[in-house]
Amino acid sequence: MNDVNLNPETQTDVSKLEVLISRQQLQERIRELGQTISADYKNRELDLVGVLKGGFIFLADLVRELEIPCRIHFLQASSYQNRKTSSGVVRLSHDLQLSGKHVMVVEDIYDTGLTLQRVFEDLQSQSPASLEICTLLSKKIEGKVPLDVKYTGFEIENRFVIGYGLDYAERYREIPDIVCMD
Ligand code: IMP
Ligand code: MG
Repeated sequence: MNDVNLNPETQTDVSKLEVLISRQQLQERIRELGQTISADYKNRELDLVGVLKGGFIFLADLVRELEIPCRIHFLQASSYQNRKTSSGVVRLSHDLQLSGKHVMVVEDIYDTGLTLQRVFEDLQSQSPASLEICTLLSKKIEGKVPLDVKYTGFEIENRFVIGYGLDYAERYREIPDIVCMD
């Protein structure tokens, strides 16, 4: 066993986990998303709102594929609290002012949808000119909160994934691929 890859607290050897979406696949899909979004928002300025922390790498890569002017914001949402299933209570923290702006929420994953619903309703109350959702991943599960998600990178099975910004108990966000933890 390679000790370098062994997390001392969780005893997980990340080098042995199944890669679900490789860094090359991520790069290609995000390039496509960037082109689609740039065409859809031609001649408009886009205010992107990244959902921390999970969306930070996706947002950073996505904005470099855009060919339109944009402004970058973040808000903090938290619900999982060191667990693999949602606690159901989503806390938000931000001081955004987006009235009259074309706004796009950029999130790592649409799982139950509770987080995105909370973020969407919060931002909608600011009366933006438009409000859309872009999520890198969407899990195929029953009973999701129905949301109108305009841009989705990949649909995935109901697995717990880490890497590319996604964490388990605040670890593994730095892994360049999306890998399965279950
Ligand atoms: P939802 O509110 O159930 O849709 O969950 C959304 C949030 O839960 C995301 O922003 C992620 O931070 C986290 N999450 C959901 N599924 C996973 C997963 O498979 N791995 C890591 N985090 C996840
Ligand atoms: Mg998380």
